[in-house]
Amino acid sequence: MNFLFKFIFYIIFLINSTLCFVPNGLFHNSVIINDRLLIIGGTRSTSSYELFYLDLSKSFDNTNLPWNSLEGDLPVYGTFSSTAIVSLDNSTIFLIEGETRNSKTEIFGFSNKVYTYDYLNSKWTTASITGDSIPARYHMTGVIDDSGIIYMFGGENAESYNDMNTLDTSSMTWKNLSIINNLPPLSGSYSASILPNGIIVYFGGRRDYNTLENMKDIKLFDTKKNEWSYMDATGDDVDSRYRFSSVLTPDGYIIIFGGSKTNGGINVSPRLAILDTNKSPYEWSIPSSSKVNSPPSIYGHTANLYNNYMIITFGQDEDNNVYNSIIYLYDITNNTWVTRFDPAPAPSSSPSSPSSSSSSSTSSPKFLKPLLIGLGTGIGAVVLICIAIFIFRKKVESPVLRIAGSAEMR
Ligand SMILES: *[C@@H]1O[C@H](CO)[C@@H](O)[C@H](O)[C@H]1NC(C)=O
Repeated sequence: MNFLFKFIFYIIFLINSTLCFVPNGLFHNSVIINDRLLIIGGTRSTSSYELFYLDLSKSFDNTNLPWNSLEGDLPVYGTFSSTAIVSLDNSTIFLIEGETRNSKTEIFGFSNKVYTYDYLNSKWTTASITGDSIPARYHMTGVIDDSGIIYMFGGENAESYNDMNTLDTSSMTWKNLSIINNLPPLSGSYSASILPNGIIVYFGGRRDYNTLENMKDIKLFDTKKNEWSYMDATGDDVDSRYRFSSVLTPDGYIIIFGGSKTNGGINVSPRLAILDTNKSPYEWSIPSSSKVNSPPSIYGHTANLYNNYMIITFGQDEDNNVYNSIIYLYDITNNTWVTRFDPAPAPSSSPSSPSSSSSSSTSSPKFLKPLLIGLGTGIGAVVLICIAIFIFRKKVESPVLRIAGSAEMR
């Protein structure tokens, strides 16, 4: 009897931790390494998932996502509104901490710690960094140049910043560039993309809680000269916004999505717009096809580009006032929203290509399947229990969700 109880408990536990893994989130980070979309940190209704990934070598529907967990617990609990940058060789993720939440006290704070994740060995380390001391901040976005220098501009804390700092990832040294000429206004929650010519394009975001930037005011930082310059973009009007996402396509288009206008989260229009950096000055346009089947208004999501897809992950769904647990797929080749992801039919990469570190966690569903079949009629009941646990969890967690959601309002 005791054994049976333990057995059932174990099965429920297994199912709950695999089939019921439906993460959601806000203010997380996402990066792509090889064929995995990795999600790091964030504010979510179940805060225990610090690192997990989506396998982009397989097809999936955007509402039925095969998430996998990755080994390696972050040295901290609950980091969000931070920035994560991948090293040039895809071996390391640099996570520059933003806001934090203490697991015991639930108290929010912020930190300027840098964590490194050794991707091949699944290990987080708190980096020891020399050089200038850089005050803690959040809502900043770092970019890495082709020599392995991370540029981190502005961000927010009790107030906003407009300083430019660099982290040399080979020597792990912070440097405040102490630029005086042409300094941009205080800036947080902006978009940052580095072009192949070493110019970083910044726009959007806010100066303070009440002042959003005009989306046509483009700030350019030349990483070769360490100089700021400015440009007035032309083209379609795009609502000012912050907490939005952006990706840079290989042919020089910056695609933005979502965001909010005020702290209350008022819908932005258009939801999607494209900045052409090949034109001089840069030009905004709104593809009419992007309005068809558009996702709802969301903010605090992330976007990554993989082959022809812009992958939008999670965020706060303003239309339905929930944490988003699905992803949205935008096909950049014909400017349409799609629901199915298919890996590129790559003729060059043969099936024998090294599948790198196939993590051990993928073996548990394989082990689970025959076990479930063996359970026969029992499976229905178990799945029901699983759903019940899931619903129960959601109910229990809703206060946490509210606390987390209010972090931004401080
Ligand atoms: C790193 O991963 C990205 C994303 O898949 C890929 O485009 C790039 O070629 C990879 N770089 C290296 C050096 O493996």
